Amino acid sequence: MAKITAVIDIGSNSARMVVYEKTSRFAFHLLHEVKSRVRLPENAYKNNGYLQEEAMQRTYDALENFLRIASSYKVRKILCVATSALRDAPNKQEFLSRVRNGLKLNIKVIDGEKEALYGAVACLNLLPKADALTIDIGGGSTEFSYILEGKVTNTLSLALGTVRLKELFFDKNDIDGAKRYINAELDKLSNIEISNLIGIGGTFRALCRAIMKDIKYPLNKLHSFECSSKTMSIFVDKVMNANERRLKTLNIRPERFDVIKPGSLIISELLKRKTDINNIITSGVGVREGVYLSDILRGQKDNSFPANFNPSVRYLLDSYIVDNNHSNQLAKLSKRIFELTYNTYDIDKKYAKELVIAAKLSPIGASLHNYSSNQHSYYLIQTALEYGFTHQEIILIATLTKYAKRRAPATAHIAEYKNILPDERVAEFLSFIISLSSALLTHRPRDLQYEIGFSDNCLHVSSQDNLYLAKDAVKKLESPKGIRVEFL
Ligand code: LMR
Ligand code: MG
Repeated sequence: MAKITAVIDIGSNSARMVVYEKTSRFAFHLLHEVKSRVRLPENAYKNNGYLQEEAMQRTYDALENFLRIASSYKVRKILCVATSALRDAPNKQEFLSRVRNGLKLNIKVIDGEKEALYGAVACLNLLPKADALTIDIGGGSTEFSYILEGKVTNTLSLALGTVRLKELFFDKNDIDGAKRYINAELDKLSNIEISNLIGIGGTFRALCRAIMKDIKYPLNKLHSFECSSKTMSIFVDKVMNANERRLKTLNIRPERFDVIKPGSLIISELLKRKTDINNIITSGVGVREGVYLSDILRGQKDNSFPANFNPSVRYLLDSYIVDNNHSNQLAKLSKRIFELTYNTYDIDKKYAKELVIAAKLSPIGASLHNYSSNQHSYYLIQTALEYGFTHQEIILIATLTKYAKRRAPATAHIAEYKNILPDERVAEFLSFIISLSSALLTHRPRDLQYEIGFSDNCLHVSSQDNLYLAKDAVKKLESPKGIRVEFL
């Protein structure tokens, strides 16, 4: 498969293009992202669905520019899909052939089921594992699917979209009519009891970004942000009652003003009906990532990555680890020390996962610059560890690499992330293990030549290696209360 791939999603509010580069078989990263609010079906809904000239020309121009960006990256493959805007338009052929002839671009118009499936495949693979109902609110339609035990089921597409509702109801100030229409559509949704709702699309991104600002959320990351359905309900009610000035203070961007209420009403009506939902998970990924993943995961069981594979971790390792052996030794040694000690210090066994990943990734910053390398690792992990982790896991892993040298995590740092980090004791303990492993591996052995035992709060270390530098480094460590290290 092509190394650099562009995916274009012509949505009904905005058109977007992402450019991905593969770093190994299933690992990739985002090289470029561009969006334009072309609103292809503008004024179509009151004209029997016919696309209007102005909107078609805008979309054509945006696509022309997208293609130029793509060629600047020497993209080898372009996957372009269009959803409801073209699906529903009686004159879609006119637009499709204009683009095909003028831009040499083939647009694939996908049906609603396929659209729901692509969104779900993206969430299934790129969000932390959880059973959930997914909802992708678009400009022309809204897609649903259930993710149950790692499989996508019950895909459904409804004629609910923000631009559609705006033109049919909100422009006439007929909110009751909009509610009736939304509920008649929502009646078609199968009623499987579920507690998680995954929100996809521009409406959710806008609302969750605003909620994050509202609650002064400490991590600047939208993908995998979670809030309670109550928080969401209260917020969408505020949006429904807001004038433009108020929308601004609610941190809604001006270009969203005219579609945020239709979008909020869909969410509000859904949450009123489905009281089993108590947790909302925001997805930064959707149809585009689904299209891309379906391409790279062709032939994989259930459209999924292999077991235990994480695309963000693999991308970071592929791109920033200079000495793979060293990174693996750090992970192995950290795991060994953890297994010897976690019980004694009453640390939950589950933290072995974050510890091992943090150990493995801790050297990545050095490839940017040797000075302040822990700081670089921290920053890189906080931004690029994107897929498949909860925010709790991401900030813990990032924190452990930041302090993987001598010092325990600073109290101010723990305080800044207090609601998403585990308690100070756990962070200190895990951080000590990575720092100790890193100290013991100062001389960069090719193999782990260590015998380690643990008794009476003391780690006994012996090795056939010459540990001159390691001993020195261990002496300088800040160790959590009670733990000692002795060399035999
Ligand atoms: C879509 O229709 O999928 C997007 O344009 C959604 C949006 O709100 O931007
Ligand atoms: Mg869409």
